[in-house]
Amino acid sequence: MDLSSVRIKEHFGMASNDTSTTKFTFVISPPKNRQTIQKQDIICLDHPIFGEVCQILGEVTEITSYEEVAGSTIRDRIGKLLATTQIIGYIDLRGENRPLQKLLVPPNPGSRIYMPYSAFLQDTLNRGTDGKPYIQSLCLGKTLIAAANQETNDQQLHFYLNADLLFKHTLICGVDGAGKTHTATVIIEELTGKVNQPIVVFDSNNEYASISTASKVLETDNVAANPQQNNPKAVAEKIKPNQVTIINTESLFLAEKDDYLSNVLKDLIKGRHEKTIQPFLLIIDDADNLSPQMLKEILACKEVGTILISSHPTLLGGKILSQIQTLIIGKTVDQQDLAYLDNITNGVEEELPNLRVGEWIIAGVNIARPTKIQIRDQHSEDPT
Ligand SMILES: Nc1ncnc2c1ncn2[C@@H]1O[C@H](COP(=O)(O)OP(=O)(O)OP(=O)(O)O)[C@@H](O)[C@H]1O
Ligand SMILES: [Mg+2]
Repeated sequence: MDLSSVRIKEHFGMASNDTSTTKFTFVISPPKNRQTIQKQDIICLDHPIFGEVCQILGEVTEITSYEEVAGSTIRDRIGKLLATTQIIGYIDLRGENRPLQKLLVPPNPGSRIYMPYSAFLQDTLNRGTDGKPYIQSLCLGKTLIAAANQETNDQQLHFYLNADLLFKHTLICGVDGAGKTHTATVIIEELTGKVNQPIVVFDSNNEYASISTASKVLETDNVAANPQQNNPKAVAEKIKPNQVTIINTESLFLAEKDDYLSNVLKDLIKGRHEKTIQPFLLIIDDADNLSPQMLKEILACKEVGTILISSHPTLLGGKILSQIQTLIIGKTVDQQDLAYLDNITNGVEEELPNLRVGEWIIAGVNIARPTKIQIRDQHSEDPT
């Protein structure tokens, strides 16, 4: 099999004697013209039974140095570097779909360790759990994984989310100021021109108005929260394909907001039941201010995708959280929230209290592995 587009020809190390189905160590042999292995790098090696057609992928989680006696006297020592590697899974290069599969036998000791090319990794990691390439992918930013491309040295891999996932239910959570609204705005920008379903935003603090100037294809319709002029029914009627409808309730008191938005929701739900409104995506900023009953009803609505935004996800309650398929998680410090997120983020949960603004962990039932990303800037922040 031709692996010239999969990995760099030169090897970067050799697996030690101590391998298991979940992790192993390898002795690093520094390559001549390339940067050596670093923590967080993704490496690959041949499957112990299927050989080179199935590549095992692993993430270097730690690098330690040690000295070995190399000659006849104790003074003849050479320094070596040992990389601890967490196995991610293996993929079968022969198939069109490339799900990450669980390794059931440990890698062979002495296997050569290679560095995969960035294009190959990008293609492999940005797929759903079924291993199918995304039909409509949204670029949310970059992962922390650096990989080499054919010509130059390392570059950070982009992270893509399957647009389809958003039309199920998504949660964006993180402490106040973590950048939740920023992230939702990036998602709306990414959807621009890629999907034509209407997007409705419940904007309780007038934070989404900037999208109207930034997005080129979607029209925005700012509904000033004036219940006389914009009664909830009229709002439901404004929803159109290829349009973002922003319902800005900044000027209302908290209790009024809940009332107003609940009425809008009722009309949206009714519209869906009667099929007078086509399937749409609803983004609810500060979702924990809305009544849980209304949220439950909208989540149960057929062909309505929701993105709930909350700084305290557990306030939403278990019934709502159990319907969330995709999570975009920022800095989290609340113990209850952490306990809930713990189960989902499998292996990266200890990072949650230390995430910085712009850093997110994306996880969920249809995401092959929880991934830490740096979200991209909004278009309105671009210097051009
Ligand atoms: N990736 C980013 N890069 C640069 N600045 C960012 C980024 N994300 C957010 N910010 C900035 O951080 C501040 C807080 O962001 P944002 O309003 O999106 O947070 P939030 O989580 O929605 O906060 P709140 O809980 O108060 O609604 C804003 O000034 C925003 O411009
Ligand atoms: Mg916000």
